[in-house]
Amino acid sequence: MVFWTSKNTGLQGALVKKAGKTAVVRALLAWYGRARRDLPWRRSQDPYRVWVSEIMLQQTQVERVIDFYGRFLERFPTVAALAAAAEHDVLRLWEGLGYYRRARQLHAAAKIIVADHAGEFPRTVAGLRSLPGIGRYTAGAIASIAFDLPEPIVEANSRRVIARLAGHAAPLGTAAGDEPIWELAAGLVPKQHPGRFNQALMDVGALVCTPVQPLCGTCPLADQCAARRTNRVAEIPIKAARRAVEEIHETAVVVRRAGRVLVVQRGPGEWWEGLWDFPRLPGTTRAARRGIERSELLSGLACGAVSRLDTIAHTVTHHRITLDVVSCTAGRGGKASPGRRWVTATALASLAMTSPGRRITTLLG
Ligand code: ADE
Repeated sequence: MVFWTSKNTGLQGALVKKAGKTAVVRALLAWYGRARRDLPWRRSQDPYRVWVSEIMLQQTQVERVIDFYGRFLERFPTVAALAAAAEHDVLRLWEGLGYYRRARQLHAAAKIIVADHAGEFPRTVAGLRSLPGIGRYTAGAIASIAFDLPEPIVEANSRRVIARLAGHAAPLGTAAGDEPIWELAAGLVPKQHPGRFNQALMDVGALVCTPVQPLCGTCPLADQCAARRTNRVAEIPIKAARRAVEEIHETAVVVRRAGRVLVVQRGPGEWWEGLWDFPRLPGTTRAARRGIERSELLSGLACGAVSRLDTIAHTVTHHRITLDVVSCTAGRGGKASPGRRWVTATALASLAMTSPGRRITTLLG
């Protein structure tokens, strides 16, 4: 019996045909019943709770999400509460999770759900995908987990499980490369308990079918696994080539004046849009010393001698940023504008800041 068919994956279908979809589904659901992770978002099928968890989990590890998830739901227990919040409060609560675009889109989608859908989540993948921040994966997760719809999901863990199960030895990690995996996932997901099934795939990937040294001896899918049968577990999945890392050097300037420091808000289209940061100049401390007077942000402040505080490293997507941190004292005003504030240490604590900006606040004596 061939249990899935695919335009692109005739080979994979053939490799698993002996096992049958039913055997895979049964084995996975039974395993999930006894071995699943006890995670806070699994205690409810409320689509709002499922949605918040899936957005947080998009780029962040499960262990890290758990605390943020609890705090977020305590503050915004319903989609209406989130829609009514000020964006700044949403971003402040998100601080530390990174990828703030997720928080802005979550907030925007909550407003749309309240304004255009009477506070109810759309109950189809297409309806869900019409909301900001909800793509193919998140729509499938909400549809299957909250609404029991037999929709597939593919994320890093389940992708690896399916690739090995099917013996799919082609590069993965791009939309085109992952398409056969989506087709395989769609062929597998059952009508009964689709949400449990999808989460079982993720948990097998996280706990058993790990990237290195997978525990094939205890895997519920060992009998059906094509990679295991053909001795290719270590070589599957094949990763698509990574984008080269780009090195960037910048200097953050802590400008002090009368017990306050100058902070600027990141503008539209910039990394960390809407968050507060210390003014930055391109290049190293030495370049910054020369650049302050030429900088639109800092010229006119009559900054005195520049002293070095520290150097910190951080990464944004494929950019590795070395950030020199310097400080100086400003002599006089400079232009006021909505995207720039002089704040006290106390006020800094309640601003939503970029992660390097927050690290810099710990250097200020
Ligand atoms: N990663 C993404 N979604 C998840 C979920 N619902 N459970 C565990 N890990 C996940």
